[in-house]
Amino acid sequence: MLITRGVFEEVAAGLAGKFEVEHNSADQPWGPEELARHLQGKHGALATVMDRFDEALLARCPDLQVISNIAVGYNNIDVAACTKRGIRVTNTPGVLDDTTADLTFALLMAAARRIAEGDAYVRAGDWKIAFGVQYFLGQDLHHATLGIIGMGRIGQAVARRARGFDMRVLYNNRTRLASEDEQRCNASYVDQDTLLAEADFVVVMAPYSPATHHLIGAAEIAKMKPTAILVNSARGGIVDDAALVEALKARRIAGAGLDVFEGEPKLNPGYLALRNVVMTPHVGSASRATRLAMCNTAAANMSAVLEGRDPPNPVN
Ligand code: GLV
Repeated sequence: MLITRGVFEEVAAGLAGKFEVEHNSADQPWGPEELARHLQGKHGALATVMDRFDEALLARCPDLQVISNIAVGYNNIDVAACTKRGIRVTNTPGVLDDTTADLTFALLMAAARRIAEGDAYVRAGDWKIAFGVQYFLGQDLHHATLGIIGMGRIGQAVARRARGFDMRVLYNNRTRLASEDEQRCNASYVDQDTLLAEADFVVVMAPYSPATHHLIGAAEIAKMKPTAILVNSARGGIVDDAALVEALKARRIAGAGLDVFEGEPKLNPGYLALRNVVMTPHVGSASRATRLAMCNTAAANMSAVLEGRDPPNPVN
């Protein structure tokens, strides 16, 4: 089997105790050609969101039986094509919910209180007068309204954190939560337009699919409050970056916190000139403990399929 990127040595060693393993421990990402080449003769791929498994690649890898994604999202994989070919796909749900919700809150707070902007200001030596009554004014999180679009496990973990800030929580989701889950999250179901109009903070927490491509574009941003802050720590492409850059430039909304971008690591260059956006490089689940848990979960899924058992986290 193939481990397409550098994972923790103990995870690679655990798999190597059971299977013949090739590990890209140098961690240089492979393009489709190299990936196809390294997959020849391999039954399993322990993969990341950067590895694209489309029909063209699958057609070149007749021995492949399982793709175990080290991620909860799997929009890098053509699951229907895998199913047709009898290839199992697995993911790592659950273990990253709290860590990703923490990062989401960090972005909310950083954007609301202009943390990155303040840090850059201090480092640049621009802080000349110790205190000003109107310096770096931001927005309050506490007692504000949080709107969550996509109320799966991570969305619910974000909602639970909002309790500590006495926030009012609205959510929109394909299906409404059971009332005990709504109560646990202290969240009220509303339609998307109501959420966009009423939220001081809009958090996108939906999986990426053709249905959520540019779910937040110019028309949706136009429905938000001019004081609102938008946070996307789900997937690039759910927010229309060009529309958001224009809105931030025109101060159509107050700010944004972004961990993911369409076409990342390439960014819409418009973001770089803007102070009212805070950005991180796709690190939602990046605590050591959580990334290790994700790798262990992915390894367990891989082992199960290659040993003829049902994987704990099947996607197909
Ligand atoms: C990371 O982006 C994931 O989907 O887990």
